[in-house]
Formats: sequence, structure tokens, C-alpha cells
Amino acid sequence: MTERSGSGRRMSRRQALGLLGLGAATVAVGATGWATSGAAGPTRSGIAPPSGETLQVPAELASRQGRLGLDLSAAPGAPLAGRDASAWGYNGSSPGPTLRVRPGDQLALRLHNRLDQPTNLHTHGLRVSPEGNSDNPFLHIAPGESFDYRITVPSEHPPGTFWYHPHAHGHVADQLSAGLAGALIVDDGSEPSVTTDRVLVVTDATLGTGGPVPADGRSRMAGRQGELLLLNGQHQPTIPCATGDVERWRLINATTSRTLTLRLDAHPLTRIALDGITLPTAVRSDTVRLAPGNRTDVLVRPDRPGTFALIATTEARSAMGMGMGPGGAAVDAETTTVATLAPSGPPRPPSALPTFPAGEGPTRDATTGTRRLAFSMGMGPGGMGPGGMNPGGMGPGGQGMTFGFDGRAYDADRTDQTVALGAVEEWTVTNPTPMAHPFHLHVWPFEVLADSARTPTTATLQDVVLVPAQGWVRLRIPFTAQTGRSVYHCHVLDHEDLGMMATIAVN
Ligand code: C2O
Ligand code: CU
Ligand code: CU
Repeated sequence: MTERSGSGRRMSRRQALGLLGLGAATVAVGATGWATSGAAGPTRSGIAPPSGETLQVPAELASRQGRLGLDLSAAPGAPLAGRDASAWGYNGSSPGPTLRVRPGDQLALRLHNRLDQPTNLHTHGLRVSPEGNSDNPFLHIAPGESFDYRITVPSEHPPGTFWYHPHAHGHVADQLSAGLAGALIVDDGSEPSVTTDRVLVVTDATLGTGGPVPADGRSRMAGRQGELLLLNGQHQPTIPCATGDVERWRLINATTSRTLTLRLDAHPLTRIALDGITLPTAVRSDTVRLAPGNRTDVLVRPDRPGTFALIATTEARSAMGMGMGPGGAAVDAETTTVATLAPSGPPRPPSALPTFPAGEGPTRDATTGTRRLAFSMGMGPGGMGPGGMNPGGMGPGGQGMTFGFDGRAYDADRTDQTVALGAVEEWTVTNPTPMAHPFHLHVWPFEVLADSARTPTTATLQDVVLVPAQGWVRLRIPFTAQTGRSVYHCHVLDHEDLGMMATIAVN
């Protein structure tokens, strides 16, 4: 196992004081993960000034001789945005270490739960067994306990950008927004080299003087949103490079709720992969869009010196009309700088980018069956059950909302879909609700055939797709590998915790 650490994350005292000092927050959904301790000073952190620090990369742990063995400790006390904030981190950092494995490797990971609540580990996007001590979303590792994961990456696994995060139902949004997430890279040694290969984990947080607290009912309805968008745990860092460099950015949307559109000043983004799968041909465009959970790999080649902002627009979302009173759960669109690319050196004429070999395409096998399922979000008679909505944050009457699929909230003991191994199914996922939901299926990636917004398709497999409000998507899912029981859910993780999740068994 090799370890490579970035240089320190410390910031100057003046910068740190600046982070504490300003008080001009403008965010529609509040109380999103960080308490402030009241009496002294502003009750909510200000929008911090840019740190301007050099971008750090998370430490990387790479497999050796077919195995990546490591201890991963989930605990409070990680720095964030250059402060000694009490974020939650893996091995003391947020994001946690980048795990790099090869197809055929075994990930032998001992997870230590040093939180005050249950947790577990999900390897988002990996096509691995969902059972036993592999990528099992039904496990709950109790506080103070440790658990030995043994996750075997199949030898035919495609190379690409994946990620890991907690998946203990009822706690996922709290834990992710507190800082628990990290990158997971499958590398088969076949991809062309670039000047700099960077993991860029996008999260958000609201910084205060205390640690994370649960969000209120209203912010969970629309999905909580932290005030600051962070890149590798830093606020508006600088990415130094040289003109002519080929940068590969492995962008991971690890925010709990934001759908992001990213662009870089004066430079196109050349998209080479989506959700870890290399596209048949690279797509050059001004923007890339990432729902929560999505990854995209882009190539960037600056041709002149300067400073160029990487800008993110968060899409508006609204759960209005779901029984909420006026001023209910809504988040306005927001555009912010995430980082600044700072190339130096003489201008370089544009030249060709390396070509990445096309990843696995969708199956050509015949469709063996169809299914329909629907997101549901409505006033339910029974309220939310344990861990559910705070009635005080709800509409008139204080009734609970039911979040689920097909009118039912998540029940770990109920099997909602049963599929035969080898099936190739077409699923129509409809969304009658007033907000878009990112649909995610574990272990079995899908091809998006079409959606109601006529979004261009990519002819590759992906694992998260945004289902438009009052719209639908049509998916084709090859269940041709991996048996076992797992889940599909909304990747606005408050919704998942509130019950917008269901189970699937492939036998
Ligand atoms: Cu990234 Cu079930 O989630
Ligand atoms: Cu997942
Ligand atoms: Cu949702």
C-alpha cells in the first residue's frame, strides 16, 4: 500500500478569521448540517472569502499485488475549508483518502465507526456483490464497532471514477453532508496518460462554530444544502498548472442535493467519461451537468496563462405544492465559483488531446421484460416513522410526508422487485412530483434510452439519472452479472433517508 499526502491544509490566521467574520449568508434552505453555538457572533456562518489556497488532493491508497488492505475510521474532527471545523472525516480528512484498485483486486477494508450513530460503507457505482461483507447497504455498523469488508472487484470491471460514502438508512444525508465521502478509482493501466490526473470531489457545507446537526424538516423536503460549495474540502482553491498541460479532472458530485452545471471560463470541457464509463467518443462542450452521485471525467488543456474560474450553477428545486404552506421548501438557483485554474507559461497553440479507448457499450441483447415505477411524495396518513420529518417543519396540520416509490416508504424487509439473473429489462421511472429526483440503482448500471426533457443520451451505462419533475426516464438495465439483494433510491439523500428507497433482488 502506498500513501501520498498533500501538503498541509492550514490557512493563514487572517483567512481563518475572515471565514469566521463575515455574516452575509443568503441561502433559502437553512440549518443544513452545522450548528453554531448561539450567543457570540452571527448565528450562521458568513459566505467565506475565497481561500485561494492551492488545491489539495486527498491522500491516495493504492492496491499492491491484487489487494488493497486498509483501516478506515469514520470520526468527527476533520478540518474543512481550511478551518479546524469539526467535520466528520475518514481517517481524519474530508474527503477521505482516494482508494485506487485494479480489476480483479480485493478491497480488504476495516471500517471503524467512531461516530455516535450507525454507519456503513457503500462503493457507489462498483459492480460488485451487494451481499454479506461486500457492498451491502443493509448493514448497520453500530457506534464503537468495526467491520471487515471484503469487496472483490471483478476482473472484467471497467476502469473509471467511482466513490464511497455511508449508506446506513436514516443517517446518510447527515453523514455525507458532515464530510464523509471519498473517491474510488478503478485503474486497469490501459488509459492514456495525462499531465495531471486529479480527483475533484465537490461537497457543500455550512460552517459554524460547532459540529454537524440534523437539518430541519423543511430543508430535508427540498434536500439540504450547505452554504459553501467545496472542492476537495477547500473553498475556492487555486489549481496551478502550465499552459499546454493536459489535465484530467475526475469530478464527483458528492453534495447531498445539488444538481450542478459546471463550466470553465474561456475553455471548453472535453468530457471523456460519465459515471466511470468512458464515452464512445469524447464530447467537447462548454458545460457538464451532474446530478447528486454522478461523476464525469473531463480533459482540460489551457492554451494561455491567466486565471480562469470553474463555475458551478446549482439548479433550483422546489417541493412546493406538496402540502407545504407558503414559504415552503424551495431552493433558488445559485451560481458560484468553485475553483480557479491558474495556468502559467507562454501561450501554446491548441493541440490534440489524447484519445481514450471507448468503454463498454450497452448490451445488444433482447429486452426480456418491462417494469414501471414511480417516485412518490405526498401527504401520508402515517407520518414518517422513526427518523422522519419534524412535524413543526411541515405544512398545516403538521402531518408527515410520505417519501417513497409507488406509494410506499422504504422497508428493508420487503422485496420490491425480483429479477432473474440474465434478464435485460426496460424500466420506465416516472416522477409525478414537483421536483426532479436523481434515480440511482446499486450494482447494476443502466443505459438511459430517453427522458421527458429530451436530454441527449450517451450510449453508455450510468448509475444515476435525473428524472425531471412531472416527467419520466426510460432505462435499459442488463442484469447479467451479480446476484443478490440491494436498493434503488433517490440520490437527494434526505429523500432517501425519509423513505424514497426500495429493494431489489436479483437471483
Ligand atoms: Cu451513492 Cu445508494 O448511493
Ligand atoms: Cu450507490
Ligand atoms: Cu428525491
